Amino acid sequence: MLTDSHTHLDNKAFNQDREDILARAKEAGVGRIVNVGFNRETIPTTLRLAERYDFIDAVIGWHPQDAIHMTPEDLDWIEQLARTHGKVVALGEMGLDYYWDTSPKEVQHRVFREQIRLARKLQMPVVIHNRDAHADVVAILKEEKAYDVGGVMHCYSGSWEVAKECLDMNFYISFGGPVTFKNAKQPKEVLARVPLDRLLIETDAPYLTPHPYRGKRNETAFVKLVAEAAAEIKGLSPEEISLVTTENAQALFRPKQEIRR
Ligand code: NI
Repeated sequence: MLTDSHTHLDNKAFNQDREDILARAKEAGVGRIVNVGFNRETIPTTLRLAERYDFIDAVIGWHPQDAIHMTPEDLDWIEQLARTHGKVVALGEMGLDYYWDTSPKEVQHRVFREQIRLARKLQMPVVIHNRDAHADVVAILKEEKAYDVGGVMHCYSGSWEVAKECLDMNFYISFGGPVTFKNAKQPKEVLARVPLDRLLIETDAPYLTPHPYRGKRNETAFVKLVAEAAAEIKGLSPEEISLVTTENAQALFRPKQEIRR
């Protein structure tokens, strides 16, 4: 069984054929999907999906690109939902994005720190978005003691040195479509070194479409292509990669009753 550990199935790109997407995912062997809502619009649509399908779980939080728009009320709202909604398994995606400078850095830092503090208060793992901000992401994770709750570096694109620091902080490393690209030297090298018990795979659909569909819309069924690429790099079978990454996702994204007891 495959797990797509990070996707955006609620995205309007899927409005015309969401049921077909789910059918194709099932056919490809996907048994669990973690859907991520990251602002005022996508948190409710993510929760609706998770309510409707038992194999979909929800991650909710605030994306760094939208940091400038997050109010204190929004943070309270996320806390309320994370406490009360049975299918919320982690907070995110949160982090830093220096590629799109839609929010000033200091605002991104504040919103990132506030969410890590909330995750520690709720004892929930965090899903980290990091684009061109490796050093600051690691520094803030350390300063805010994110290792208390752990989490995942989603669609990881950095160096092995940064990955190692994240592994040391109790984090999983997740890979998506880019590891299937012929010229993606660094993600392949990092994947080769990440211990199997810390490895996750994802699509981040509708974005980051794997080879050979690059340039088209991504979808959850394509996580199979990521598993195949990871299998080749690790010298294992795709089935072994599916099994271990599904177990890892289960260990990280635990249903609430298990966390709270
Ligand atoms: Ni995402």
